[in-house]
Amino acid sequence: MVNNIAKLFWLLIVLLIISACTNKPQNYWVLKAEPSSISHAAEKGNSAILILLSNLGNKRTDHNSDSLLKEVTARHERAPIMISSIANEHGVAMGITSGRLRNPDNAPPDWALRYIQLCQTDNWKDETIVFDLKEKVGLLKPVAAQKTCLSCHGPVESFPPELKAKIIRMFPNDKATGYKNGELIGFIWAEVIK
Ligand code: HEC
Repeated sequence: MVNNIAKLFWLLIVLLIISACTNKPQNYWVLKAEPSSISHAAEKGNSAILILLSNLGNKRTDHNSDSLLKEVTARHERAPIMISSIANEHGVAMGITSGRLRNPDNAPPDWALRYIQLCQTDNWKDETIVFDLKEKVGLLKPVAAQKTCLSCHGPVESFPPELKAKIIRMFPNDKATGYKNGELIGFIWAEVIK
């Protein structure tokens, strides 16, 4: 009798776990597949993301060591200003983040954490994801490493010694190196009030 109750108990636990996994309400979609009730907010966030993306990619490739050092400081100081000015213009909140951060201040918002952790650097899709966050809509756009990024995000061994020293000094816990061209390096996120 006691044995049967124990069996029933375990069966119940297993059923609960299965139903928790399969009945999980879906709260994210690939952009354009989201419900029409949130598509307006999603479109607004996406416009802001695309503007920021084009600004990020706009950097020169012909870096000598001296201009690289200056650009590290410039990116650290100017990126947040540029991001917030685009965000304000579009009436959204926005940021740039990664699963392997350089600056811990760029940590992802809570709602994006799990999705970011699931994405692999070399096995990913260039799809913007739309999240229903109740009062808000969240968006995540993956960003690929391009050749121009590798001077500061490629293998540390390839960095001039002064650059390596500067990055370690400014970001002692830097994890944003070792990327190859085309790998997933990070995400742009946006939040839009519905
Ligand atoms: C001159 C050096 C340099 C180059 C080139 C560069 N980055 Fe960065 N990157 C930085 C620095 C410095 C930060 C930290 C910025 C901050 O403090 O907010 C950063 C931060 C980031 C982050 C935010 C997450 C984090 O780790 O803090 C992403 C994503 C990123 N870079 C992607 C790119 C991409 C994509 C390119 C190429 C299009 C690129 N970077 C080119 C220096 C560089």
